[in-house]
Amino acid sequence: MSGIEFLGTGSYVPEFVADNDKFAEIVDTSDEWIFQRTGIKQRHIATDKPNYYMGAQAAKRALENAKVSAEDVDLIIVSTCTPDFFYPAMSCLIQKLIGAKNAACFDVNSACTGFISCLDIAQKYLATDTYKNVLIVSAEKLSQQVDYTDRASCILFGDAAGAVLLTKSGKRFNSFLGAEGDEFEALYCKINYQTNCPWYGDINEYYENRFDTHAKQNFLMQDGKAVYKFAVNAMADAVRNVAAQGGFSVDELDLVIPHQANLRIIEKATELLGIPSDKVYTNIEHMGNVSSACIPVALNELFGAGKIREGMKICFVGFGAGLTYGAAIMEV
Ligand code: COA
Repeated sequence: MSGIEFLGTGSYVPEFVADNDKFAEIVDTSDEWIFQRTGIKQRHIATDKPNYYMGAQAAKRALENAKVSAEDVDLIIVSTCTPDFFYPAMSCLIQKLIGAKNAACFDVNSACTGFISCLDIAQKYLATDTYKNVLIVSAEKLSQQVDYTDRASCILFGDAAGAVLLTKSGKRFNSFLGAEGDEFEALYCKINYQTNCPWYGDINEYYENRFDTHAKQNFLMQDGKAVYKFAVNAMADAVRNVAAQGGFSVDELDLVIPHQANLRIIEKATELLGIPSDKVYTNIEHMGNVSSACIPVALNELFGAGKIREGMKICFVGFGAGLTYGAAIMEV
């Protein structure tokens, strides 16, 4: 498999901070409960900006870091499960804001696995030689889907965007993607169109007769325990699969950047893999779960702190609604 390399990374983290005490003011919870069960202390919320704005800011910073002009971007792939518009794709809105007028654009939705799906796609585009610079933007505004009266879910999520600019390289890269559509009811957010089509019957009946969904509900719905159970094994399987596929041993990984859903999920999955905690990067304490933006935001923090060294083998691993899961190993 031909490789890819990072030319630059960037992120946008909204200013407004909602710490656990703020949640204790709106639902029956406590800092102690949230921190012990999830590892989260605070999350950021984009109180006055749309999702595509966050994505554009992250993208601009990645291009500045890479010292590549927006006009030299050939393709923008956005991962989001919280778009501002059904259409156009968020990538088109971001293209406009950053002035990447020569870029093709499309969006990907595999929920929290989105950044890994984008890496997988970007590598394949870059292998064709037609595309030189591919910009991935993972932008998520979970606050527009979360039910702030549901204490079991609202405490988990925040808003942020991360971006990476990629080009082809001779370094090793492998990716693995999987999905369990059978389990989709464990985590979903249904679209309730405000249609005025005069010939419609009760379409919600269709959903209610077939699925365990709350058909009229607009909010993110989850069965936390089912997601938790799925996530631990899915993350471990994804890492084993991608390592085997690329001829890597799990022991030779220098760094693992997992999806930041729950610190206990990360600890259990990496324990199953025998990966020591000092090789696992987490930022969940100050970011919460920002869906597909978790991994690129974390990566940008690591680059900023000078912790990514040439030659390192980095593993990205995640899971999310779908239920989807995936992992990638990249030599940097
Ligand atoms: N504060 C206080 N108590 C809470 C609470 C909160 N924020 N949320 C739930 N509880 C209560 C429950 O009502 C339950 O009370 P009961 O025993 O009286 O019924 C008790 O705590 C235990 O609930 P439970 O659901 O067993 O907790 P848990 O240990 O499984 O933790 C999650 C709940 C949601 C934190 C955990 O299941 C989880 O993280 N799941 C994965 C979710 C996820 O990652 N989603 C995104 C995927 S990308």
